[in-house]
Amino acid sequence: MDNNLKKTVEQKLAAHKIAGQDQNIVTAGYVSAVIVEGGQVGIVLDFGDQAPDGASALRAAIEKDVQTIDGIKATNVVVTASRPAQGPQAVKQAPQLRPAPKAPPTPTAIPGVKHIVAVASGKGGVGKSTTSINLALALQQQGLKVGVLDADIFGPSLPTLVGLDKKPQTKDKIIQPLEAYGLKLMSIGFLIDVDQPVVWRGPRVMGATQQLLKDVAWGPLDVLIVDMPPGTGDVQLTMVQQAPLSGAVIVSTPQDLALIDARKGLAMFEKVDVPILGIIENMTSFICPHCDGESHIFGHGGAEKTAQKIGCEFLGGIPLEMAVRASADDGIPLMTQTTDSAAQVAYAHIGKRIFEKLG
Ligand SMILES: Nc1ncnc2c1ncn2[C@@H]1O[C@H](COP(=O)(O)OP(=O)(O)OP(=O)(O)O)[C@@H](O)[C@H]1O
Ligand SMILES: [Mg+2]
Repeated sequence: MDNNLKKTVEQKLAAHKIAGQDQNIVTAGYVSAVIVEGGQVGIVLDFGDQAPDGASALRAAIEKDVQTIDGIKATNVVVTASRPAQGPQAVKQAPQLRPAPKAPPTPTAIPGVKHIVAVASGKGGVGKSTTSINLALALQQQGLKVGVLDADIFGPSLPTLVGLDKKPQTKDKIIQPLEAYGLKLMSIGFLIDVDQPVVWRGPRVMGATQQLLKDVAWGPLDVLIVDMPPGTGDVQLTMVQQAPLSGAVIVSTPQDLALIDARKGLAMFEKVDVPILGIIENMTSFICPHCDGESHIFGHGGAEKTAQKIGCEFLGGIPLEMAVRASADDGIPLMTQTTDSAAQVAYAHIGKRIFEKLG
């Protein structure tokens, strides 16, 4: 029966288009997964290098449309953009940034910051940014002073995740991080301003990353979470070479492909001797918002098996939950809200484990 339902869902999807495009989203190849199980539907739309304008409206329209199918209890559409981490196009879009350093830099400590933890993945769109902000809050709930650095120069998401749209102050060439929910925050998204390109010097990405790390008054902090850009290219490698990282957390989804990429992420940190704190499986199961029932629409347990195979810790799974996405879209992270959802419990558990591991 689920197969018939899946066909009906796919027919519905074929009726949706991106404004200005001729092909529907199925023939254009944007639908990367449709999973129907027990009347619950999970749909992943992958827009390659960048989600188009109107992606949120499209997501809402699809959810509404699919909900009209008989036998569908709940629908969750996740929009991702698993773009390559870098490339000619990305470089072209770069703001004016400091030139890249010539030799691999040696990490130097950031004054007043005890631990720096990178949150990374091989593949884009697996939920790094959402996980970063909620884990930062989970660590704060352990009594720590926490900051979040959005190191994604081409696709900053922190301003949206925390609902902040203001410019940081600069004192003596040092940028003062913004604050929200008790966290210190910095993202290129706070700095770029067409009218006032003050803070950037020089033309390259690696320099920009360095600037976000070193020219910001981060301290005093117990933990600085670095939300890494997707992928394992030179930009990421430079970042992990520059930052004196205490460890890295790898986020993956349960699908095989994401797990293969997760292994690339692990290898990158191993290359520079950064300890892997563990692997998180995001979107590990789907919690129905109506009945609280749980199903494993994207498969389950792959990250745990991968972790076992390579001898690193499986930190836990975070369910695919509408509240996670809605809170991210609203700029009010789930961990600041007084619900008691399975995802909150998972973030708290993983945060506690990272706290213990940092010692
Ligand atoms: N556990 C979850 N439940 C529901 N939605 C989720 C969950 N985790 C992430 N999402 C949603 O999936 C989408 C992608 O997440 P996010 O932006 O955090 O991924 P990312 O890995 O940082 O992407 P990028 O590689 O583009 O930086 C977002 O719409 C987010 O709200
Ligand atoms: Mg991100």
